[in-house]
Amino acid sequence: FDTANTEKFRPVYHHTPLYGWMNDANGLVYKDGEYHLYFQYNPYGSKWGNMHWGHSVSKDLVHWEHLAPAIARDTLGHIFSGSSIVDQENVAGYGVESILVFYTSASDKNGQVQCLAFSKDNGRTFIKYEKNPILCPADGLRDFRDPKVFRYEPEDKWVMIVSADKEMRFYDSKNLKDWNYMSSFGEGYGVQPCQFECPDMVELPVDGDLNRKKWALIVNVNPGCYFGGSATQYFTGDFDGKKFSCDSQSNVTKWLDWGKDHYATVCFSNTGERTIAVPWMSNWQYCNIVPTKQFRSANALPRELSLYTQDGEIYLSAAPVLEIKTLRKEKKEIPAFTVANDYHIDSLLADNDGAYELALEITAGEAEIMGFSLFNDKGEKVDIYFNLPEKRLVMDRTKSGIVDFGKKSVPHEIEVHDRRKTTSINYIDDFALATWAPIKKENKYTLDVFVDKCSVEIFLNGGKVAMTNLIFPSEPYNRMCFYSKGGSFQVDSFNAYRLGL
Ligand code: FRU
Repeated sequence: FDTANTEKFRPVYHHTPLYGWMNDANGLVYKDGEYHLYFQYNPYGSKWGNMHWGHSVSKDLVHWEHLAPAIARDTLGHIFSGSSIVDQENVAGYGVESILVFYTSASDKNGQVQCLAFSKDNGRTFIKYEKNPILCPADGLRDFRDPKVFRYEPEDKWVMIVSADKEMRFYDSKNLKDWNYMSSFGEGYGVQPCQFECPDMVELPVDGDLNRKKWALIVNVNPGCYFGGSATQYFTGDFDGKKFSCDSQSNVTKWLDWGKDHYATVCFSNTGERTIAVPWMSNWQYCNIVPTKQFRSANALPRELSLYTQDGEIYLSAAPVLEIKTLRKEKKEIPAFTVANDYHIDSLLADNDGAYELALEITAGEAEIMGFSLFNDKGEKVDIYFNLPEKRLVMDRTKSGIVDFGKKSVPHEIEVHDRRKTTSINYIDDFALATWAPIKKENKYTLDVFVDKCSVEIFLNGGKVAMTNLIFPSEPYNRMCFYSKGGSFQVDSFNAYRLGL
């Protein structure tokens, strides 16, 4: 295939396949200075199908080298999502430090079963275990997939989590080939009904305290997103080697990202103290019809996860990895200003190609609404604003550019209920909408905004709130209008950076 880029919406600093369809990040593993990003991949077209594991590698999480697909579809079916480990002690017998991958084989005939493959050439090629599958659903469950394997040091064993319809099932093994059922988690937790997919579970210090660690169980759900479609929720709690117990006292659902285009997020294995997650930047509602052709879709920025406490609850923060700072090519420093009504910036960056970062520090002052529009000469825009009386951070892409592909008529008028309103409608718009996150009322906020051709990712206060949304503007947004209502606010510092590889 000719892989020279033909797409105006191809991101500059986000990973995309050169050609073809991509969904979930799979088997993320770090070894010998290389980050391996495998992904759900259709090498034959830009819609879902023929699932392989595509493969890219990076030394720094931002410059990616595209390699040949690592695992191809076979007679057991599609190669669905899964995880990887480095077999440090040759437990599986394929050599010290071989990379082992655990994935789901999926077909109508054989159902969804878990398989093992190993690599002796640093993850370039894999040999499938001759006795696959290694784990089938005991109860014949149809949706049984996306194995996550990690080491549980206290019992010198491995644990596998498999998403099983509306729960996560936990298994253990001493030899990485024979797996025993231990427990399941899910019933009564989180948003239901929905399909649990792509589990991950990591143990992290709370508020940086190495003597106080908690586990975070990442559960991707589809549907279940507060704004429709796919999203990533998580639960914090304890794990005793057999069972995960959620410690949330409240019924609050915790989301790793509050946008519509953050899904199937899982973490790298073998990264020591760092926990780095990579999201797929789309939503099953419209991923097959977004306006690109040569490729569909991108990964969101890799994010470093950590746990923090707020009002007695433990939350995950997701901050863009620091390596992204190396992409800053040109800095424009905008002196501090006060926003009483509005304040315009007519040109953000000269020859703006749509790949940039905005780093802001804000003092809330008396404002009730404070925010800005990022827009182009066509009047297409994204609005990002704080609604302080309602304690929300909002991103509105209703008028962001091409938005019509998400509009579906519904057969009859239906009632739509959300926390704000009950209304009768005759179409649903999955794309042209605003997403919002609950925030705490504070005097000062930091906000990092990453724009890359077809995406806007915002991170509040170092990742305590993350929100990722796709956009398809006909030309880059290079203008800004800050606005306030109900009082003024102060932009204490504002740097715009052109980002490039
Ligand atoms: C999540 C998912 C996984 C599955 C894969 C198939 O997006 O549905 O559960 O393994 O995609 O491509």
